[in-house]
Amino acid sequence: MVDVILGLQWGDEGKGKIVDYFAPKYDIIARFQGGPNAGHTLYVGDKKIVLHQIPSGIFHQNTTNIIGNGVVLDPVTLKRECDTVAAFGIDVKKNLFISQRTNLIVPTHRALDTASEISKGESKIGSTLKGIGPSYMDKTGRNALRVGDITDKSFITQYIKLRLKHQRLLDNFHFTEDISVWEEEFFEAVEFLRTLNIVNGEYFINDKISSGQKVLAEGAQGSMLDVDFGTFPFVTSSNTISAGVCTGLGIAPQKINKVFGVTKAYCTRVGSGPFPTELYDETGEELRKIGNEFGATTGRPRRCGWIDLVALKYTCMLNGVTNVVMTKADVLDSFKALNVCTEYLINGNKSGQVPFQLTHAEIKPEYQTFEGWDCDSTCLKTGDNLPDAMQRYISFINQYIGAPVSHVSNGPQREQIIKILN
Ligand code: GDP
Ligand code: IMO
Ligand code: MG
Repeated sequence: MVDVILGLQWGDEGKGKIVDYFAPKYDIIARFQGGPNAGHTLYVGDKKIVLHQIPSGIFHQNTTNIIGNGVVLDPVTLKRECDTVAAFGIDVKKNLFISQRTNLIVPTHRALDTASEISKGESKIGSTLKGIGPSYMDKTGRNALRVGDITDKSFITQYIKLRLKHQRLLDNFHFTEDISVWEEEFFEAVEFLRTLNIVNGEYFINDKISSGQKVLAEGAQGSMLDVDFGTFPFVTSSNTISAGVCTGLGIAPQKINKVFGVTKAYCTRVGSGPFPTELYDETGEELRKIGNEFGATTGRPRRCGWIDLVALKYTCMLNGVTNVVMTKADVLDSFKALNVCTEYLINGNKSGQVPFQLTHAEIKPEYQTFEGWDCDSTCLKTGDNLPDAMQRYISFINQYIGAPVSHVSNGPQREQIIKILN
């Protein structure tokens, strides 16, 4: 059976920590979409690690990690990351596998990402500039190079053909950048990639499932950044929702069992685009400061606001969430009052639904206010002694979104998690 962990908001919900926490219960951890735009933070002892390409189960010696076909892979980032984890004694040649069908990010994808953002001016997406959009465009445009191609004799010829195509696009953008250093790094990293376990991912994972192994699929970004259902066009270029697990790994829908949706106890977003509950005042500043809300990939300050239950209910519906994991509850420890968005006022009309165009509509969030727990929650270990105010906050959220909060994370460390339901 396959369980899933994915983000229910606009990314950075704490998926990395939660995958690392659950990993010992699984045989395989599989990334199914996204690329180095992801920044998943986890702690090994007191050492902080941010993973961009490698699944967050890599620090568990008995866990097999696989990068699925739905991912876009930058070999340069992968090589760098493999060096980081090797310093912890992890043998990636033993427990990291990569699908042949995974699409490659080439240096000109990064250049195209920058050129496209510059051309958009004020309405830029706020991309991480890792080449994600152009790389997925080459997948759907049927031009991409894939990991399996690197062993082919014609790889260099195919690469040059693709670079030429990209060069024409870059010329249209009047964009020039010397990519020779990137190219050098790229080919070095491709050499390294050749030494890793490149497999037929769909057979690999289905064989493991048939032999009774347990798979945990790890999402990147968040459901509100999904290319179909997110705040388009301010989204990423992949399907971040649970449906993406099937296409991103090659497994059938009936194999999916539990879907763990991760949400912060409040809300953040990095990059451009609508964010109805964003706070522009000192409360927003406080959330950013206490929550240390700065992007794990780009270092940009994250926009902060209250939890948005309209959006959360929507993403629980899209994903078929069976369990909600609420992270960063401790960040709210010192807040006297907490707001929870229960409705949108859209052009004067109340609605409990995410509209087609969150981008253009005039949206005012309607809040219900809760008393804060106003105490240090970071040392809590069990669900029996949660502060009353925290219990009220959680049970309101449970009822509203129709999915149970089964775990509350109360600090960045591995052991800072409270199981409240099975
Ligand atoms: P991801 O992209 O979803 O994996 O999340 P990020 O790693 O980008 O951002 C989450 C940040 O919050 C990281 O710095 C984590 O170390 C941190 N974090 C995760 N869970 C908790 C928590 O429960 N409390 C606190 N204070 N920090 C947390
Ligand atoms: P994790 O996995 C938060 C945002 C970018 C931008 C938009 C498009 O760490 O949760 P892209 O680089 O995909 O073209 O950017 O999506 N974005 C993320 N925001 N967390 C992420 O990943 C993100 N990956 C992309 O800021 O607004
Ligand atoms: Mg992140």
